[in-house]
Amino acid sequence: MMRPSPFKPLDAPLFALFLLALCGIFFPKMVHILIGAAFLAGTALHLKAKLPIRGRASGMRRAGLLATELLGLALAGILLSGVFLSLQAFTGWQWADRVDWRFWHILSSLVAMFALFAHLLTQASRAWQGWRFYGAALLAFVLIGSAIFGIPYADRWLRHVETDVASVTGGEPIAASGRLLTVWFSRSGNTAGLEQVDTVSGASFMLDKKSQKLFGNAEVLALMAQDMTKSDLAAIRVRTPYPPAYSDTVRIAKDELHATADVELAEPAPDLSRYDAVIVVFPLWWGTVPKAVEKYLASSSNPPSKLIAIVTHGSSGAGESEAKLKSLFPGAAVAKPLAVYSSSVPHSRADVARYLEEALGASK
Ligand SMILES: Cc1cc2nc3c(=O)[nH]c(=O)nc-3n(C[C@H](O)[C@H](O)[C@H](O)COP(=O)(O)O)c2cc1C
Repeated sequence: MMRPSPFKPLDAPLFALFLLALCGIFFPKMVHILIGAAFLAGTALHLKAKLPIRGRASGMRRAGLLATELLGLALAGILLSGVFLSLQAFTGWQWADRVDWRFWHILSSLVAMFALFAHLLTQASRAWQGWRFYGAALLAFVLIGSAIFGIPYADRWLRHVETDVASVTGGEPIAASGRLLTVWFSRSGNTAGLEQVDTVSGASFMLDKKSQKLFGNAEVLALMAQDMTKSDLAAIRVRTPYPPAYSDTVRIAKDELHATADVELAEPAPDLSRYDAVIVVFPLWWGTVPKAVEKYLASSSNPPSKLIAIVTHGSSGAGESEAKLKSLFPGAAVAKPLAVYSSSVPHSRADVARYLEEALGASK
């Protein structure tokens, strides 16, 4: 005998709202906020109608309750991180700026998705048996797996990043003394035909809202470091800029690394030994220091006495950078690099400040 469905007619639109909210980066921010708010309000009403649970709870029912509690926690995380993400531009709360709310928003969404599917499956198990239940479980598994890989991927590659560069880079100075140089290398300033670049996303360029100029991740990190240390600032420029397509740049960088292509600098470095510390900021390329950065540092008439590296990356951390810098400059003190994930760059000023305060303190 067919058991009645445990789902109510309004459950399907609520589930559809959740899936739409998960695809938030494809919509304008306000639409995403409205969809998210509608889902949260709908879920609150849905749960209110189901509570309190009466009678003895079976094993499956208890699992369902556990999933519901986890869902409640994850939704609270989504709400909190969402509110801070939306308010970030308007509040001057420094403690809130230290937190990468986007990371917590994505993490809470993934936990909510897992808990929601667990909740739905425990409900479905009351009416669905055999292939129907296992089919639904398999579909849930595939969707969760796709979201775990797909959402961070989409956030890195498909989310158009616009920011107010002056506001994310500017702020309180740190206690830094001595002669300091911040030198940076990025695709920005080293790419031909900027108007044709294919990655204005977490992966590389971000658009400055005020000047409408494109900034690279490493450039933004360098501006943060310069602003807080009041160091001199220098950019590493190659003589022949890289093509606008990301994949072409990746290919050329590989040839440079394997010495089948040479990289020529537009200008050599000044005498780096004149500085107490050189803060070098670059993207991780093929797991290590880009050839242009190596060449620039080696072009100084005298080697630097202290190197502090800030490395932005797409998931590999600082890779081999520390070992590479140590092997290039055996006489220099090389600090353990700070690794900043590409999409986190606009929110990383506090991390950069903490790191530099420690690294520069150790250099005294
Ligand atoms: C040529 C090239 C090679 C890269 N290799 C790596 C890598 O090996 N590991 C990694 O995590 N990210 C890698 N990335 C990603 C960049 O390090 C990352 O997106 C960085 O934030 C880009 O900084 P930028 O905007 O200053 O160029 C590579 C990017 C490019 C263009």
